[in-house]
Order: sequence, then structure tokens, then C-alpha cells
Amino acid sequence: MSSDTQFEKELAAIDLLGPEPSDEHSRELYYIGKLRKLIADRSQAAGRPLTACTVTFGCQMNARDSEKLIGILIKSGFAPTESEDADFVIFNTCTVRDNADQRTFGRLGRISHLKKKNPHMKVAICGCMMQEKGNVEKVRKSYPFVDLIFGTHNIYRFAQYLWEVYDTDRKVTEIWDKTDKIVENLPVERKYPYKSGINIMFGCDNFCSYCIVPYVRGRERSRDPREILRECENLARDGVTEIMLLGQNVNSYGKGLENPISFAQLLEEVCKVEGIRRVRFMTPHPKDLSYDLIRVIRDNPKVARHVHLPLQSGSDRILKKMNRHYTKEQFIALAQKIREEIPDVAITTDIIVGFPGETAQDVDDTVDVIKRVQFDNAYTFIYSPRRGTPAAKMPDQVPADVVKEGFDRVLLTVQENARTRSALLEGRVMEGLVEELNSQKEGYVTCRLSNNMIVHVPGDASLIGTYQPVRLEECRGFYYFGHIEKEA
Ligand code: 5AD
Ligand code: SF4
Repeated sequence: MSSDTQFEKELAAIDLLGPEPSDEHSRELYYIGKLRKLIADRSQAAGRPLTACTVTFGCQMNARDSEKLIGILIKSGFAPTESEDADFVIFNTCTVRDNADQRTFGRLGRISHLKKKNPHMKVAICGCMMQEKGNVEKVRKSYPFVDLIFGTHNIYRFAQYLWEVYDTDRKVTEIWDKTDKIVENLPVERKYPYKSGINIMFGCDNFCSYCIVPYVRGRERSRDPREILRECENLARDGVTEIMLLGQNVNSYGKGLENPISFAQLLEEVCKVEGIRRVRFMTPHPKDLSYDLIRVIRDNPKVARHVHLPLQSGSDRILKKMNRHYTKEQFIALAQKIREEIPDVAITTDIIVGFPGETAQDVDDTVDVIKRVQFDNAYTFIYSPRRGTPAAKMPDQVPADVVKEGFDRVLLTVQENARTRSALLEGRVMEGLVEELNSQKEGYVTCRLSNNMIVHVPGDASLIGTYQPVRLEECRGFYYFGHIEKEA
């Protein structure tokens, strides 16, 4: 049975005129059912379907949450649109660095004139930023037109809040400071038909001293492996061939479950799901990436040849202050082990420059690790103090000009190394999943290799979602131009 049919069957069994059901899953269905009638009536009055737009900031977890938000909106009767000039707009926010906050406030500011034009328009804001009290207060004071505010822990109550906002025309704000619940099987509208993220766990218990995630996403909670496998099977049945297992710290998966299993075991099980051709995961923590996991990746060709391994800093002194629980040499040894065991693997990383107390010698250490590990790619971030984290209170915050000098040096090393690594693949034929039409170059499509590299090749929309042998011809640093290799 398709997931849509299953949903309709479950919804039909709920008494929409009766009282609110007590279990969370049925309760959300109950409100979706009630919204259907209300949104259909409003659409009829307007003489057109009401539209809804989701604006997403931040990581893959947020992207997945937005697929759930839009899934609920569609099932409630809204027509999805990319345009913010919609009847309902929801901002799903990120607060990992200050520039994410600033971007959200900028977008929110611009929406106010749309709301003046369309007085029936409703605006909502949710996600990590809303777990910070100061941000909620700022939204209520500076953007009083916002109708609905909620956080990360109560996202599964979205349908209920949406109903309250439309039924009563009142403003709703509800933020929880924690949850221990995982509500399964709510509707999802996937952005891509052929690939999907799957949450395997929520929250983080690591408390790296710069990071706000443990405060806004709460304590680690793992999903039951049977639920995860069932979701994989349903996705495969719906035509998905590539999945990405998502968690802030996937190596901790399984702790606290009734029958604890490790992430390596879960990955192995997921590889067995028929129809799934590629499995990715994001993000492991270097401190507890096990040899078992390396072995599972090595022995399962379905697991993508890509490990994203956040370094953050190459200096032992800074790593300690960051509360990362590994040293420079331990990190290098781990990366070498991964390269040794898994030929063709790409290792990518995250690096922060400008952590409190960081000196030019510390940056030298980071540059040294980049050169020795030869990362295939890296995201480099300028340290951003986050309120409430230990690092924000540390003395010796680094002046901006010193940070910039270090940042430029790190970025240059990353780019040089990435180019050298990419160039090694020139001339090879590798399997690429055709993901989308190339927006810059007409007549081209964009493929992703197992190692996460992008190759642009001539092709049309009929290829999207297929796997093709692609020849890597012209290296452009982080990506290639090439051709689909015709069968002989
Ligand atoms: N400042 C800068 N970068 C940060 N990250 C997390 N917190 C901060 C911060 N306060 C980066 C880390 C992490 C990535 C997702 O974001 O590198 O791996
Ligand atoms: Fe933040 Fe560290 Fe947890 Fe990653 S592992 S989410 S950097 S606290």
C-alpha cells in the first residue's frame, strides 16, 4: 500500500466531530482532517486554492523537518509554492551561527509588505532559533504580524497549531524546553522523488563548547530501528533509491533503546533493504567512530564512499577547550585508517577559525592537518559566539582582523588540497545519480557520485533519478564536467 493510501485509511478511521484523540499521532491526523474542511471553505471563498511556502535555513535535519511541514500543509489542502507571496509562509530557522539569525530576520522584515498586500496571509516561524528566548521576544516585538511561533521539540504538533491559528484567528506561541517523544509516521512531502533523508536520532549530548545545538535540539533520542527500517522500505516502494541517515552525532545511535544496537549494525541492516542503492549518513563524531563502522562501509558497496568527519581545529589546545575529546594525531590516524580500509573514499570536514584564544600557531596546526589528511572538501566557518555556550564566556575572543587572516589561510589550503584530490579522478568513469537539470547551463544535468562529487554532463530531464556511468573529463576544482559513457 502506498504511504498516501495508508494515510487516507488512517484518517478515515478518525471521528472528526468527536473529542481530540489522546495519542499524538491520531491527534495530528484529527487536526489535519479538521483543517481540510476549513481550508477547502476558505479556498472556495477566495475562488482559488490557498497557497503555502516553506522557507528553510540550516542543515539537512532542518530540510527534512521542512518536508514534514509541507507534507502536513499539503494534506490539509494547501497548494505548495516556492514564492513567499503565499497565503501561508513558514520560516524553519537555524541558529548555529549569528549570520543564520541575521538572514532570517532580514527575510522576515521583507515579508511584512506582502502581508499588508494580502491581509489574509498568515506567517509562522519555527525551528532552532525559536528555542532561544531572546529571539522569540524579538519576533513578537519587532515582527508583530507573525501569527504562529513554535520550536523544535513540538514540531509534531504543527497541524494542531495551524488549526488554532486558522480557526480562532488568534496568534499562537508555544515553545517547549524539552521532549522525550518521537512521533512517527506523519505525512511528508519529499523534495526529490529519488532520494530522501531519514532521521535516526534527534538531539546531541556532546556539548562542544562553541555549539548551541545541544541547547536547542535537546538530549539525544534514537528512533527504534524497526521504525527506521520500515521507513526505508516504504521509501524504496515509493521509488527512492538513495537515503541519508541523519543525526547530529550518528555514532551515538542506539544508546538508551530497549534493545540497544550500534550505528554500524543499523547501517548494515539499512543496506539490506531491497531497492535502496546508496546509503549516506551525516554526521559522525571523530571521538567515537568505531572500527566496526569502517568495516561496514568497506564491506557494503551500497554505503557511499564519503565520510564527513568534522575536525573543527587541528590544535590540541583548542580541541581541548572545544571539548572535542580527540587530539590532532588521533584525528589524523583515524583519517588514515579510513583511507587505508576504504579505497576511493572522500573525506570532508568542518573547520572553525577564530575560537577564543586561537593563535597563529593554532591555525598552523589546522593547516598541517588539512595538508596531511588531504581533505576532499571542507566547510570553513568563522567562530560565532552563541549565547549560553561556555565558549561565549571565555576570555581572549579573537579580534576580527586576526580571524580573517587565519580564515583566509585555512581556506586557501583547503581549496588547494581539494583541487589536487579532485584532479586525481580525471579520466575515470564512475557511477553518477542524475539529480537535476543544470540551472546554469542549458542542455546539462547534474550528477552526484558516490563520493559526493558533482559532475555536470549533457542530458535532459528524462535522466533524472537514473544512475549513469559518467566520465570525468574537465576538473573545475570541486566539480567536473564530463559525459555519460555510452555502453559499448
Ligand atoms: N561558530 C562557528 N561555527 C560553528 N559550528 C557549530 N557551532 C559554531 C559556532 N558557534 C560549525 C561546526 C559544525 C558545523 C555544523 O557548524 O563546524 O560542525
Ligand atoms: Fe554541536 Fe558538537 Fe553536538 Fe556537533 S557534536 S551538534 S558540534 S555539540
